[in-house]
Amino acid sequence: MTSDPHPATGAGATLAEVASASLGCALCKLAETRTQVVFGIGRSDADLMFVGEGPGEQEDLKGEPFVGRAGQLLTQLIEGIGLTRDDVYIANVVKCRPPGNRDPHPEEIEACAPWLDRQLELVRPRVIVTLGNFATKLLLSTKDGITKLRGREFGFSRAGHEAMLIPMYHPSAVLRSGGKALAEARADFVHVKRVLARLA
Ligand code: URA
Repeated sequence: MTSDPHPATGAGATLAEVASASLGCALCKLAETRTQVVFGIGRSDADLMFVGEGPGEQEDLKGEPFVGRAGQLLTQLIEGIGLTRDDVYIANVVKCRPPGNRDPHPEEIEACAPWLDRQLELVRPRVIVTLGNFATKLLLSTKDGITKLRGREFGFSRAGHEAMLIPMYHPSAVLRSGGKALAEARADFVHVKRVLARLA
């Protein structure tokens, strides 16, 4: 049996074309409850790309990743190393809001992954920061959790694209835990800044 090609595959050669093709995606059940697809935002040739889990309520309404409380913390952390949101690219593992902010299901992650693959292929960041377990497990093909992996650097290589991948706590987890987790997140951002300088 042959399956149809994923729509991301033939969606075009630019990020804008791929984004536009994603807007009508109905490959998983999240399409039934979303307000809109939240594809991603930022520089199309950014050196630094963040990958979160999936849109929340605010993101679903606005059509932009990380604009709610977790997004405000992410923005502060980005600005803390002298960058702005416009300097980076921000995406998620799943592009549509899981209802009630539940975890994305494995079949939803699988259906959505080719959109993220195209984003990585077109942006070609030097450094990829995975925020939380879902992005880290997907891009590192690991079962290890974020507590074990954060603070470390991993080589990422796919289809001729090489990058450093740095796993971090998800900003929502930092907001829930506070204190030590916030200090660790700040230290992880300083680490990212050092890696960017090293690779420049
Ligand atoms: N959490 C995520 O993982 N992504 C968003 O876009 C917002 C909150």
